[in-house]
Amino acid sequence: MLLFNMFRVVTIFALFAVFDRGCWATSYRFPDNFLFGSATSAYQIEGAWNESGKGESTWDRHTHTHPEMIIDGSNGDIACDSYHKYEEDIELLKYLGVDFYRFSLSWTRIFPSGFPDDINYEGINHYNKILNLLVANNITAMVTLFHWDLPQGLMAVGGMLNPRFVTFYTEYARTAFEHFGDRVQYWLTFNEPFQTCVFAYGDLMLAPALGISGIADYLCGHNLLKAHAAVYHLYNTTYRPKFKGKIGISISADWFEPNTTDDEVAAERIRQFWYGMYIQPVFSSKGDYPDVVKEYIAYHSSLEGYKQSRLPQFTPDEINYIKGTYDFMGLNHYSTYMASEAPNISLETSYYNDYQVSLSSAGDSIANDSNGLLEIVPWGFRKLLVWLKDTYDDPDIFVTENGINDLDDVIDDKRRISYYGQYLEALLEAIYIDNVNVIAYTIWSLMDNYEWYLGYTSKYGIYYVNFSDPDRPRIPKSSAHFIRNVFGNRTVVSYDKVD
Ligand code: NOJ
Repeated sequence: MLLFNMFRVVTIFALFAVFDRGCWATSYRFPDNFLFGSATSAYQIEGAWNESGKGESTWDRHTHTHPEMIIDGSNGDIACDSYHKYEEDIELLKYLGVDFYRFSLSWTRIFPSGFPDDINYEGINHYNKILNLLVANNITAMVTLFHWDLPQGLMAVGGMLNPRFVTFYTEYARTAFEHFGDRVQYWLTFNEPFQTCVFAYGDLMLAPALGISGIADYLCGHNLLKAHAAVYHLYNTTYRPKFKGKIGISISADWFEPNTTDDEVAAERIRQFWYGMYIQPVFSSKGDYPDVVKEYIAYHSSLEGYKQSRLPQFTPDEINYIKGTYDFMGLNHYSTYMASEAPNISLETSYYNDYQVSLSSAGDSIANDSNGLLEIVPWGFRKLLVWLKDTYDDPDIFVTENGINDLDDVIDDKRRISYYGQYLEALLEAIYIDNVNVIAYTIWSLMDNYEWYLGYTSKYGIYYVNFSDPDRPRIPKSSAHFIRNVFGNRTVVSYDKVD
């Protein structure tokens, strides 16, 4: 009897331990054809901002003329110096055992002015060298055509607000497909439409920091969606038959959870404003912007005295042209926030006023709104994946970014390991319990890099980079070893949960 009781106690303890460790998820393996990778972007890592014929981008101009708009006054002139150290970067990828590498092309290395006139072949050769080395190492390339470093030459004519942006961007994409298409399996047209338009054209956070909220952000989004569709069609008709690759767009979507049961409508509304307005036109059989977005912007516009909605309209032909222009949904996900109804109406024209929702942090970890650390909320990732599946007819989802920041140089980054462990378990639950079609997963980021308006103060890398050393050495953090283990074993290996 005593023995039996002891057995019961041990079993109960063991069960608790298993549940506490993220339940059963660790016993699941990622499907055999599931892909693992890591990501970077050109401006954040390359440096060599004016070498080998490269033209000036909006980020070069913004950081050089307005260093006060960057938290540490820094810029990406050298960054991780990956323009010269790409061979070393590929060694890191080999150590991690990735299936693919997501990186972006710098438009102004290829067309220095942005206009499709003279190709800069030094830029073409640079990316050829990277692609050839990836092929030699059996690493699939996933290439983002546009990760925010717009040619300054195009900005001079309005950048993404100019309807001709669609043509310039399509010609740039054609050149990329022509030269690199034989070695690129996955293409992404744009990285994060929301941040591209709202933070850069509506707000002051990202270059060109126009700050024309509630107007420029909507114009930008409109042209971005048309440009995305044009490039999808170009690839689909002209290059897919030859190269057999796939093309999508990376949407950034954090999860918005209702603060109370009365806030469900508000939470759904902000989902539609932050990402639904870029997802629905492409991924839903309905096409077009979501009704709630159209209604709220039209209503606020009329209260403010506008004769028409500030949100441009798509014609029926445009709706059909944009609808269905994807092979997979790229998803960048980081954290979760609580959403509450904000009933007071402001008459100041602003994207943020249009949706009438206020946000607060989720959970009670060491992270909070004021210290700039992201919160670890794995259940939000799972809820988001289920919502995407249910709202958009079950697309193939390629997680193109997932990660967490540190504000100091932490080599033994236990919090990042805890984040990845829990988010990967949530992903396994979404795949096996909720049947969400997730086909790939990408770490953001391969190494610490230039975090836009936060300069070098917010670090997402699984490799540490010493930015005060001219050689920019890369040193693996504990999370690099953990990720190598996860990728190699195709399951979430054991880790300690910390907040
Ligand atoms: C999304 C962006 O694509 C990337 O450039 C950025 O560094 C990460 N989020 C982290 O903020």
